[in-house]
Amino acid sequence: MRAVNSISFEVKEREILGIIGVSGAGKTTLSRIISGIITPTSGEVNFRVGDEWVDMTKPGIEERGRAIGYIGLLHQEYDLYPHRTVLDNLTDAIGLEFPKELAAHKARISLSMAGFTANRLEAILPKHPAEMSEGERHRVAL
Ligand SMILES: Nc1ncnc2c1ncn2[C@@H]1O[C@H](COP(=O)(O)OP(=O)(O)OP(=O)(O)O)[C@@H](O)[C@H]1O
Ligand SMILES: [Mg+2]
Repeated sequence: MRAVNSISFEVKEREILGIIGVSGAGKTTLSRIISGIITPTSGEVNFRVGDEWVDMTKPGIEERGRAIGYIGLLHQEYDLYPHRTVLDNLTDAIGLEFPKELAAHKARISLSMAGFTANRLEAILPKHPAEMSEGERHRVAL
Protein backbone atom coordinates (compact mmCIF):
# COMPACT_ATOMS: atom_id res chain seq x y z
CA MET A 1 0.00 0.00 0.00
CA ARG A 2 1.49 3.32 -1.07
CA ALA A 3 0.53 6.79 0.11
CA VAL A 4 1.79 8.38 -3.14
CA ASN A 5 2.62 6.55 -6.35
CA SER A 6 3.78 7.49 -9.90
CA ILE A 7 3.75 11.26 -9.48
CA SER A 8 5.90 13.22 -11.88
CA PHE A 9 5.92 16.94 -12.65
CA GLU A 10 8.14 19.95 -13.14
CA VAL A 11 7.40 23.46 -11.91
CA LYS A 12 9.33 26.29 -13.52
CA GLU A 13 10.17 29.64 -11.98
CA ARG A 14 7.07 31.83 -11.49
CA GLU A 15 4.72 28.98 -12.38
CA ILE A 16 1.91 28.04 -10.05
CA LEU A 17 0.92 24.40 -9.77
CA GLY A 18 -2.22 23.13 -8.10
CA ILE A 19 -2.45 19.58 -6.77
CA ILE A 20 -5.98 18.28 -6.79
CA GLY A 21 -7.22 14.88 -5.70
CA VAL A 22 -9.86 13.08 -3.65
CA SER A 23 -9.41 12.65 0.08
CA GLY A 24 -6.62 10.15 0.74
CA ALA A 25 -5.12 10.56 -2.76
CA GLY A 26 -1.76 11.59 -1.31
CA LYS A 27 -1.68 15.40 -1.58
CA THR A 28 -0.49 16.04 1.97
CA THR A 29 2.07 13.23 1.74
CA LEU A 30 3.34 14.68 -1.55
CA SER A 31 3.66 18.16 -0.05
CA ARG A 32 5.55 16.68 2.92
CA ILE A 33 7.95 14.98 0.49
CA ILE A 34 8.42 18.19 -1.53
CA SER A 35 9.20 20.17 1.60
CA GLY A 36 11.60 17.54 2.95
CA ILE A 37 9.62 16.64 6.07
CA ILE A 38 9.57 13.00 5.02
CA THR A 39 11.76 10.93 2.69
CA PRO A 40 10.18 8.98 -0.17
CA THR A 41 11.07 5.27 -0.41
CA SER A 42 11.95 5.77 -4.09
CA GLY A 43 12.04 8.41 -6.79
CA GLU A 44 13.66 11.79 -7.26
CA VAL A 45 12.78 15.21 -5.89
CA ASN A 46 15.01 18.07 -6.97
CA PHE A 47 14.61 21.67 -5.92
CA ARG A 48 16.61 24.56 -7.34
CA VAL A 49 18.08 27.12 -4.94
CA GLY A 50 19.87 29.85 -6.90
CA ASP A 51 22.12 28.02 -9.36
CA GLU A 52 22.28 24.80 -7.36
CA TRP A 53 20.09 21.73 -7.43
CA VAL A 54 19.21 20.25 -4.06
CA ASP A 55 18.28 16.57 -3.74
CA MET A 56 15.27 16.64 -1.40
CA THR A 57 15.48 12.90 -0.77
CA LYS A 58 18.73 13.32 1.18
CA PRO A 59 18.36 14.40 4.80
CA GLY A 60 20.87 16.67 6.55
CA ILE A 61 21.86 20.33 6.64
CA GLU A 62 24.34 19.90 3.78
CA GLU A 63 21.68 18.23 1.62
CA ARG A 64 17.95 19.08 1.65
CA GLY A 65 18.55 21.39 4.62
CA ARG A 66 19.89 23.92 2.08
CA ALA A 67 16.44 24.20 0.50
CA ILE A 68 14.13 23.77 3.49
CA GLY A 69 14.35 27.44 4.52
CA TYR A 70 12.89 28.46 1.15
CA ILE A 71 9.88 26.16 1.38
CA GLY A 72 6.74 27.02 3.34
CA LEU A 73 3.72 24.84 3.93
CA LEU A 74 0.33 26.12 4.98
CA HIS A 75 -1.53 23.28 6.58
CA GLN A 76 -5.17 22.47 5.90
CA GLU A 77 -5.66 22.77 9.63
CA TYR A 78 -4.23 26.26 10.18
CA ASP A 79 -5.45 28.54 12.90
CA LEU A 80 -5.18 32.09 14.16
CA TYR A 81 -5.97 33.21 17.70
CA PRO A 82 -9.58 34.36 17.25
CA HIS A 83 -9.64 36.93 20.07
CA ARG A 84 -6.44 38.69 19.09
CA THR A 85 -5.75 41.17 16.31
CA VAL A 86 -3.65 40.35 13.28
CA LEU A 87 -0.79 42.33 14.78
CA ASP A 88 -1.00 40.34 18.03
CA ASN A 89 -1.28 37.09 16.11
CA LEU A 90 1.97 37.90 14.34
CA THR A 91 3.83 39.13 17.41
CA ASP A 92 2.76 38.50 21.04
CA ALA A 93 0.74 35.37 20.30
CA ILE A 94 3.73 33.55 18.82
CA GLY A 95 6.08 34.72 21.54
CA LEU A 96 8.11 36.99 19.29
CA GLU A 97 10.48 38.47 21.83
CA PHE A 98 11.37 41.75 20.19
CA PRO A 99 10.70 45.31 21.31
CA LYS A 100 7.17 46.30 20.21
CA GLU A 101 8.24 48.57 17.35
CA LEU A 102 10.58 45.97 15.89
CA ALA A 103 7.97 43.22 16.22
CA ALA A 104 5.40 45.38 14.40
CA HIS A 105 7.96 46.09 11.70
CA LYS A 106 8.59 42.37 11.27
CA ALA A 107 4.83 41.70 11.09
CA ARG A 108 4.51 44.32 8.31
CA ILE A 109 7.37 42.75 6.34
CA SER A 110 5.82 39.28 6.69
CA LEU A 111 2.45 40.53 5.49
CA SER A 112 3.93 42.31 2.49
CA MET A 113 5.77 39.10 1.58
CA ALA A 114 2.41 37.30 1.74
CA GLY A 115 1.09 39.72 -0.90
CA PHE A 116 -0.54 42.54 1.07
CA THR A 117 -0.07 46.04 -0.31
CA ALA A 118 1.06 48.76 2.10
CA ASN A 119 -2.49 50.14 2.44
CA ARG A 120 -4.21 46.78 2.79
CA LEU A 121 -1.64 45.72 5.35
CA GLU A 122 -2.31 48.73 7.61
CA ALA A 123 -6.04 48.05 7.29
CA ILE A 124 -5.83 44.46 8.48
CA LEU A 125 -3.28 44.82 11.32
CA PRO A 126 -5.93 45.91 13.89
CA LYS A 127 -8.54 43.41 12.65
CA HIS A 128 -9.62 40.20 14.31
CA PRO A 129 -9.58 36.98 12.24
CA ALA A 130 -13.41 36.95 11.98
CA GLU A 131 -13.31 40.37 10.29
CA MET A 132 -11.24 39.16 7.34
CA SER A 133 -11.85 37.07 4.24
CA GLU A 134 -10.76 33.44 4.13
CA GLY A 135 -7.95 34.32 1.72
CA GLU A 136 -6.72 37.11 4.01
CA ARG A 137 -6.77 34.76 7.01
CA HIS A 138 -4.82 32.19 5.01
CA ARG A 139 -2.16 34.72 4.05
CA VAL A 140 -1.82 35.97 7.64
CA ALA A 141 -1.42 32.36 8.84
CA LEU A 142 1.14 31.70 6.12
N1 LIG B 1 1.76 8.50 8.43
C1 LIG B 1 1.10 7.66 7.64
N2 LIG B 1 1.27 6.33 7.72
C2 LIG B 1 0.60 5.48 6.91
N3 LIG B 1 -0.28 5.88 5.99
C3 LIG B 1 -0.51 7.18 5.87
C4 LIG B 1 0.15 8.15 6.67
N4 LIG B 1 -0.27 9.37 6.31
C5 LIG B 1 -1.16 9.18 5.34
N5 LIG B 1 -1.32 7.86 5.06
C6 LIG B 1 -2.17 7.29 4.03
O1 LIG B 1 -1.65 7.69 2.78
C7 LIG B 1 -2.70 8.06 1.88
C8 LIG B 1 -2.54 9.51 1.43
O2 LIG B 1 -2.75 10.38 2.55
P1 LIG B 1 -2.65 11.94 2.45
O3 LIG B 1 -2.75 12.49 3.83
O4 LIG B 1 -1.43 12.30 1.66
O5 LIG B 1 -3.95 12.28 1.60
P2 LIG B 1 -4.58 13.68 1.12
O6 LIG B 1 -4.63 13.64 -0.38
O7 LIG B 1 -3.84 14.81 1.74
O8 LIG B 1 -6.06 13.59 1.70
P3 LIG B 1 -7.02 14.75 2.28
O9 LIG B 1 -7.61 15.46 1.08
O10 LIG B 1 -8.08 13.97 3.04
O11 LIG B 1 -6.21 15.64 3.17
C9 LIG B 1 -4.00 7.77 2.63
O12 LIG B 1 -4.43 6.48 2.23
C10 LIG B 1 -3.60 7.79 4.08
O13 LIG B 1 -4.45 6.94 4.83
MG1 LIG C 1 -4.38 16.35 3.12
